Amino acid sequence: MSEELEGAHNKAESAQNAMTMLEMISGYWVTQILRATAELSLVDHVTAGASTAEEIAAREGTDPATTYRLLRAGASIGLFGDAGDRRFRVTPLGGLLRKGAPGSLREMAIVQGSPLHWQSWGVLPDAVRKGGTQMQAALGLAEGETQFDYFGRNPEEGAYFAAAMSNATGVVIDDVTRMLDLEGVSLAIDVGGSTGALVQSLMKTRPGLTGMVLDLPHVMDSAVRAAEEAGVLDRFSAVPGDFFKEVPAADLYLLKMVLHDWDDEQCVQILRNCRASAKPGTRGVVIEAVVGRIGEPSFGALLDMNMLAGTTGQERDFDAYDALYAASGWRRTSTLQTSTPWSVQEIVAV
Ligand SMILES: C[S@@+](CC[C@H](N)C(=O)[O-])C[C@H]1O[C@@H](n2cnc3c(N)ncnc32)[C@H](O)[C@@H]1O
Repeated sequence: MSEELEGAHNKAESAQNAMTMLEMISGYWVTQILRATAELSLVDHVTAGASTAEEIAAREGTDPATTYRLLRAGASIGLFGDAGDRRFRVTPLGGLLRKGAPGSLREMAIVQGSPLHWQSWGVLPDAVRKGGTQMQAALGLAEGETQFDYFGRNPEEGAYFAAAMSNATGVVIDDVTRMLDLEGVSLAIDVGGSTGALVQSLMKTRPGLTGMVLDLPHVMDSAVRAAEEAGVLDRFSAVPGDFFKEVPAADLYLLKMVLHDWDDEQCVQILRNCRASAKPGTRGVVIEAVVGRIGEPSFGALLDMNMLAGTTGQERDFDAYDALYAASGWRRTSTLQTSTPWSVQEIVAV
């Protein structure tokens, strides 16, 4: 390569790097654009036929001029298309913010930009300095309180969080349903199962399967409502409880995005309580975004920062999970990678 060409190449590369860096730095703008679009139901309004900012603003009770600017920003990141005459249409990507649509991530968008996540992320440097989450200080919680105490006191955000968890289940459920062997399972317990999206989806594909959710008392009503909506209420029970104290017996223990909320000692306690009610040979399923090799693009490594910001937990690699299982009477027997960042680890009670 001639010196001149090399110089031009380097210049183009640094301009590209600067642009990439600028986009990363302003990533939070996108988070809040998505949150506002979801919270103000813009996609729902456009889907229902309101396609100008004025029409949408009239339905939602927002200001037409700022609604237009938000729609325009949304269009620039692919949520809306230009339908001419200052009209907007929803793209397939934007459709993922529609309330209740199959595969919808609307509540996830709201939750990620809402106070618990937003304010906890705002003190991330402090969390790294001090060696653990500073979310209590950021949210005015007492020392030792968790995000679940916060949700208990902020029921609207808590309900969005529960719905966001169902959104996340929607992302993996097809793979999980296809991969899981439910042979010999009559009762599956969704430990920390929130509204029960996972176990209820399995129940829908298995008419003989009985399902149970163990979660905190404030989640119970929505779990029962979700079971009713899923048409499985007659085979479903919602058990209010504390997985640090006791976990009811079942033939299959489901733990999806539960262990990542807690430190190692707490995880071992949860797993031991599952083991205490399980017979030897009973199976469990752990679904988490396992951290990959350093340097590889890893959703798990990024999600780990979310856990550092807002919880005492973390994302782990397989060795770390195996250590938790060994300390609690379980053994990992197989691992299945879904088409998403989430892995399905099958474990057995030893
Ligand atoms: C990150 S969410 C995961 C929910 C669900 N497994 C999913 O993936 O959609 C963690 C869940 O654990 C529940 N939880 C927190 N502390 C608990 C406790 N001590 N006992 C039972 N459930 C608890 C929360 O209410 C919440 O629903």
